[in-house]
Amino acid sequence: MSASSQALLPGPRMPALAQSAMLFANPFGFIESCRRRYGNLFRVRLSGAGEFVCLFEPDEIRRVFEQDGISAHAGEANAVLEPVLGSDSILTIDRERHLARRRLLSPAFHGEALRAMAPAIKAIVAEEIAGWPLGQPLALRPQMQRITFRVIAKIVLGRDDPVEVARLVELFEPVIRVSPLILSPPLRVDLGPFTPWGRFRRAKRRLDEELGHLIADRRQQPEGADLLGILVHNSEEGEEHQIRDDLLAFLLAGYETTATALSWAFERLARNPAAQATARRAAQEGQSDYLDAVAQETLRVRPIVADVGRVLDGPIEVGGYQLAAGTTVRLSIALVQSDERNYERPGEFLPERFLGRRPNRQIWLPFGGGRRRCIGAGLAQLEMREVLGQVLADRSVSAPDPDPERRVVRGATYVPHRGAVVELREESV
Ligand code: HEM
Repeated sequence: MSASSQALLPGPRMPALAQSAMLFANPFGFIESCRRRYGNLFRVRLSGAGEFVCLFEPDEIRRVFEQDGISAHAGEANAVLEPVLGSDSILTIDRERHLARRRLLSPAFHGEALRAMAPAIKAIVAEEIAGWPLGQPLALRPQMQRITFRVIAKIVLGRDDPVEVARLVELFEPVIRVSPLILSPPLRVDLGPFTPWGRFRRAKRRLDEELGHLIADRRQQPEGADLLGILVHNSEEGEEHQIRDDLLAFLLAGYETTATALSWAFERLARNPAAQATARRAAQEGQSDYLDAVAQETLRVRPIVADVGRVLDGPIEVGGYQLAAGTTVRLSIALVQSDERNYERPGEFLPERFLGRRPNRQIWLPFGGGRRRCIGAGLAQLEMREVLGQVLADRSVSAPDPDPERRVVRGATYVPHRGAVVELREESV
């Protein structure tokens, strides 16, 4: 049977502007309602940005991932990030250039290099959690942000001086906090520092200058183990913009995501006493298996990034439809991981489902997949194990408000709406 044309794909019929507004206001709710209404494959039209086709059948997703770097391109799908990252970062480039960049940078986040990061992470976590108050409501997300920024600044820039890190956060925050609305081309009008785009451009310039100083500084020193050292010593003078864009990509990709994942882990544990009791025992005994399962289940039930995109530059057939070159496909992590065909009782928090077995990479997709799979997946899970282990070894967490926190969108991530508020109590070992 021959494939149907893409134009026949089902999808909402309302005007593109209304579809964009609904997606922006409640991305997960909107996509979920499309799934219920239109089935396994549908398209969504966006005002000024064409349309995308949403996929959440594991086999179809695998087929797209197999085309990574061949006829499916993530850099092009990430183009919306260019005002923040520049056009030369690992997240926004494609094809041969991307492959070469991955080959250069990937080893710094795997194997021995990853194991070597553990002591520094351990020390940062210990310092940070020592000051957390007990017996009163505490929003964990800002605390987790402090930890994950310190870790990523150390690994990417080789910096851990508190004053310097605070200054970097101050420069970095206004750039990454920019609303996706402001990044849309029609709104990119610089009418001075009091307009959103004008403010953003000035903040970005200040951050670029600071990163420029760090790069120039490093050119004078021997290569270090951090990413900046690797980038500087594998580039020529004059390629500063490329190094700067990559530094930004790693800071952006590695900071909020991991802080949010940790916040959700505690949000879930505070509402699942049995899982928490098992995790606390594991932490006290120095066993990491259950803590890793907690991290994996958190990333399944509360995926931080709802989907990943690819732009096709050749036709692909999926689900009986011929998708044309130029189509953007969005591979829905959130729909795959909440599908009861893939997971029993998908809404429940059950770390046991990952105990003693590796997650199945066809249906566990928090880090995306294919040749673009997250470079920092190992680092993120190492950080999660360390924070969970140290916090739970001699503390319990409870939720002052037993209702689950809602998922709300911040930038590219889904965060708990109150910032994961818990109360910590000291527990004797
Ligand atoms: C829980 C924490 C994290 C989550 C949920 C996460 C998720 C993701 C996702 C979904 C992608 C896109 C993959 C795709 O397109 O298929 C990605 C890419 C990426 N992530 Fe992460 N990430 C996390 C932590 C980190 C950390 C700690 C780093 C720092 C090393 C990092 C660096 C990157 C980079 C550089 C890419 C781009 C890879 C490429 O395009 O080749 N991420 N991440």
